Amino acid sequence: MRNKGTNLKITVKNQTVSYSDEGPNGAPVIILIHGFPFNKSMWNDQMEMLTENFRVIAYDVRGFGNSEAGTSDFTVDLFVSDLLGLMDVLKIEKAMLCGLSMGGYIALNAIENYPKRFSALILCDTNCVADTPEAVEKRMVTIEKIDKYGVEPFANESIKNLFAPISFVTNQEKIAVVKEMIMKATVPSLSATLLALTLRKETCSKLAEIKVPVLILVGEDDKITPPVAARQMHKNIKGSILNVIENAGHLSNIENSYEFNIHLEKFVSSVRLK
Ligand code: MLT
Repeated sequence: MRNKGTNLKITVKNQTVSYSDEGPNGAPVIILIHGFPFNKSMWNDQMEMLTENFRVIAYDVRGFGNSEAGTSDFTVDLFVSDLLGLMDVLKIEKAMLCGLSMGGYIALNAIENYPKRFSALILCDTNCVADTPEAVEKRMVTIEKIDKYGVEPFANESIKNLFAPISFVTNQEKIAVVKEMIMKATVPSLSATLLALTLRKETCSKLAEIKVPVLILVGEDDKITPPVAARQMHKNIKGSILNVIENAGHLSNIENSYEFNIHLEKFVSSVRLK
């Protein structure tokens, strides 16, 4: 029988995964995957809106939020295998998949390898390219700094790049919530994930093979995965829809949840009718 609620625990491949599962029984399923270095609470505004008509599952990627880190080296392939494991344990044959940034890397890898398990894709503030040598170098320096100075300086540095300039004036509360979220991440999980991201494979060459409806959302001021990257994916995914979210940077679902939710709702409702 289905367990409904927030912050539930389930064992997947001998490991505890923390997830929320809300919305009506029997409704189409939407799975939300958070970005790095956040946790499932980054989807709170979307959970609230979507759970009226959909069964929505948001989970903590291993090592984040309340999910166990386990003992294996982190890789995006492992995160994908965790996602499929969670779907199997929850007996979800098919779902719409929505990922932000790292969540998008996981979603793109998942649809490439398990196309039959997904009925639609929502790619938020993400990219299909692999890390450049410069990006790898930057992540390695970050790993060293986190190891030496801990999470707080990393959180402060991250905040500077995550938000649109306007948010530092109008959205201070949300910025504080995001900083809190980053502060909950542990040094080992941050380092292991940064390393995993340096090793991830590109998925751009597989975009043309995506056959399900795709929505691409990006904050107009996203400095990390900018609109130009979203436009490139849009060009290569036949029939995809692209919406650029105003007054938002990398966390467009948090910074301008109003506009983000309008596009998301319209898209998932149209997929449901197909
Ligand atoms: C994220 O939000 O998941 C990260 O910015 C992804 C990345 O660092 O590539």
